[in-house]
Amino acid sequence: MNKLLLHPAVKPAIFVAALGPFAWLLYGALADTLGANPAEALIRSTGDWTLRFLCLTLAVTPLRQWSGWHALARLRRMLGLFAFFYGVLHVLCYAWLDMGFDLAAIVRDIPKRPFILVGTAALLAMSLLAATSFNRAVKALGAQRWQALHRSVYAIALLALLHFFWMRAGKNDFAEWSVYAAILGVLLGWRVLHALRHRASAAAQRQRVEAAQPRVADPAR
Ligand code: HEM
Repeated sequence: MNKLLLHPAVKPAIFVAALGPFAWLLYGALADTLGANPAEALIRSTGDWTLRFLCLTLAVTPLRQWSGWHALARLRRMLGLFAFFYGVLHVLCYAWLDMGFDLAAIVRDIPKRPFILVGTAALLAMSLLAATSFNRAVKALGAQRWQALHRSVYAIALLALLHFFWMRAGKNDFAEWSVYAAILGVLLGWRVLHALRHRASAAAQRQRVEAAQPRVADPAR
């Protein structure tokens, strides 16, 4: 599987596949096949795809470690950037189709509706990760600081989930939301367990090193 994942055609194939939903929505908008309320369909579908790509991005590391398909790691950045791409499309659809690009009305709407405020926070944080997703940013920030910053993708996923929850709370419809909550719960749970296990094995290693060091005689005796 690793060999297959390292094939030069894999990345372009995933890139084209990830553009599929965009092409489908564009076709739907042009051919008028998005149903009775195309504006709502566009805003909601782009929101759904943002969340789906966030889930896919977060699934890469657990899947890589569980399966041993380490070459999956080279797809993580592209999947994260697609989450951002669909997030930007989502906001553009909202700004255009809901608000007619009226900037003053958008600025008023953000604090007025809590689910919009939370979504905006998630997208702003995502912009920061997208802007620092390139090799030059890793070098400029240093690997440790870069990693700490990019760990905020878990907080972004929680904000996105809260955004979705709040939006559906008005309609009392949590069926789809529960599926995303379960997926993100497993992925975040895995991350926490992994961090705890890592910390425990680092502590055990430290103890072994200390125990192996020769004891120095106490000069006070
Ligand atoms: C990471 C960022 C975001 C994610 C993952 C996200 C995701 C979603 C999801 C999953 C939905 C529900 C779709 C459905 O019902 O099937 C949604 C709806 C919506 N989102 Fe977002 N969103 C984000 C950011 C934003 C931002 C920044 C705004 C506006 C400033 C926004 C405005 C809306 C609106 C207006 C709706 C539809 C509400 C309705 O139809 O009643 N979202 N979003």
